[in-house]
Amino acid sequence: MELRHLRYFVAVAEERNFTRAAQRLHMAQPPLSRQIQQLEETLGVQLFERSSRPLKLTETGKFFYLHAVQLLAQTAELESMTRRVGNIERSLSVGFVGSTLYGLLPKIIRRFRDENTTVELSLHEMSTMDQLRALKDGRIDIGFGRIRLEDANIRRVVLREEKMIVALPEGHALSMSKPILALRDLVNETLIIFPKTPRPSYADQVLSAFQDRGLKPHRIYETRELQVALGLVAAGEGVSVVPSSVHGLKRSDVSYKELDDPTLVSPIIMSTRLLDESQDIKEILELIYRLYEEEHIPYVPRTGSGG
Ligand code: BEZ
Repeated sequence: MELRHLRYFVAVAEERNFTRAAQRLHMAQPPLSRQIQQLEETLGVQLFERSSRPLKLTETGKFFYLHAVQLLAQTAELESMTRRVGNIERSLSVGFVGSTLYGLLPKIIRRFRDENTTVELSLHEMSTMDQLRALKDGRIDIGFGRIRLEDANIRRVVLREEKMIVALPEGHALSMSKPILALRDLVNETLIIFPKTPRPSYADQVLSAFQDRGLKPHRIYETRELQVALGLVAAGEGVSVVPSSVHGLKRSDVSYKELDDPTLVSPIIMSTRLLDESQDIKEILELIYRLYEEEHIPYVPRTGSGG
C-alpha cells in the first residue's frame, strides 16, 4: 500500500462519488476505480458498499478513513516542517476568508513582509472549510477564517470576536430613525447574506443570530460574497449584517449602524497544523497581537497553547 492509495481513498470517501473524486484528483475515473479495487485487494477487505448511492463506507472503511486522514495530515506536516527545519526555503502560505481583508489582514501581511524580507509569503482566498483541507495537504501553513471547525490535527486560536453591524441603503428609514439598531428592527427587510456556499459560513452565523432570538427575516437573499452584498444594499435590495471592519470600506451609497447586542459577534480564527511550531507562525501571531495593541482593538486573551 502506498501513500497515493490513501489519497485516492480519502477523496472517494469524502466525495462519496467516483466521478467527483476523480475530478478533485485531476485524473480519469477508470484508473481511480482500479486503484481503489487494488487497495481493497491488498487489504483483503471491502472499504465501500458498492450498491449504495451515494457511495457509503463500510464499517471497516470508516475505520480506515479515520486513520488514513491522520496519516496524510502527518505526511504533509512532515514534508512542510522538514523543509522549514532545513530552511531550504522560507515560505509561508496563508489562506483567508474574503471578509478578513477588511480587517487587519492587509496590515498584517505588509508588516510581516517588511519585517521578514527573506520569507516568500503567498495569499490564497478560501473558505474556512477549504483551509482545513489545505492545511492538512500542506498547501497552506496558516488559515484565517470565521467558523469554529473541530479537527484533531488542527490548532485553532480565536484572535478576536468582531462585532456585527448593519449595512443599510443610504437614506433608508432605519438609518434615520434610531442611533443604534436591534436585530428585530430588521425583520421586515430583505436580509442579504453571504457567502452562499460553501456552508456553514458567516451567512449561518447571521442566520443563527436571528434564530437564537426567535426572529425570522421577511425574506433572505443569498449572495456569493460581501462586495456583492454591499452592492445590493446600495441598490436598495435589502439590508445586510456585516463584520464591523467593513465600516472602513467607505461607500457614499451605504450607511452603517451599530447593533445594541454585544453578543452579536463573528470570530476571527487562526488555524495551523497541530504540530507546526515553526518560527514564522510564532512571529505572525506575535505581530497580530502587537497590531491589536497598537490599534486599540479588543482581542481574546492569549492562552499558553496558542503559541
Ligand atoms: C483581524 O482583523 O483581526 C484579522 C484579520 C485577518 C487575520 C488576522 C486578524
